[in-house]
Amino acid sequence: MTDISHIYQFLRCKTPDRWLDYAENHVDILLIDHAKCEKKAGSTALSLMFKYPERSELQIKMAQLAREEVLHFEQVFEILQNRGIEYSILSPSRYAESLRKLARASEPHKLVDFCIIGAIIEARSCERFAALAPRLVDSEPELAKYYRYLLKSESRHFEDYLALARKYSPDPINEQLNKLLDREAELIESEDMVFRFHSGIPAIS
Ligand SMILES: [Fe+2]
Ligand SMILES: [Fe+2]
Repeated sequence: MTDISHIYQFLRCKTPDRWLDYAENHVDILLIDHAKCEKKAGSTALSLMFKYPERSELQIKMAQLAREEVLHFEQVFEILQNRGIEYSILSPSRYAESLRKLARASEPHKLVDFCIIGAIIEARSCERFAALAPRLVDSEPELAKYYRYLLKSESRHFEDYLALARKYSPDPINEQLNKLLDREAELIESEDMVFRFHSGIPAIS
């Protein structure tokens, strides 16, 4: 299995057991939301490319990332189709929006914060795939295998976003990174009224 110890060091907390318990019993919702997250990740990467055409490293990294996320979408969409799960629209969880609210408004800080948030979302996704895989190994062996397969690319996406944040920031990013990581841990460890791929502890039955 891909070594993701750097992801555990980066994030402030691991996914709570109660989220994993719920996920294990609601694989359909998890897959529908996962497909959406992959599509959204691709679209975010493309919109950054349009917004910052003068940033050449961003163009290269985001082009690769968008390609990989859209491929992941295709793969998850195929899983949904094979299972006869209807791909419906789910309301987003509070997660990404709550993090984006903390982004600074002026450039280049806005870009830096988008890259930090991108790194955090990729890191959490990676951590969740790694936590889900052993949970699903008996009931959903194919899915567990697929989640393990995703670790490598998602951990690289995390590294790419973090490197871009450091590259484009005129000053050290630590303070803003700490602030966003603290908020992220709060969102993961507090109760949440919806269950999604990036939701907090399900406060629903
Ligand atoms: Fe992905
Ligand atoms: Fe990713």
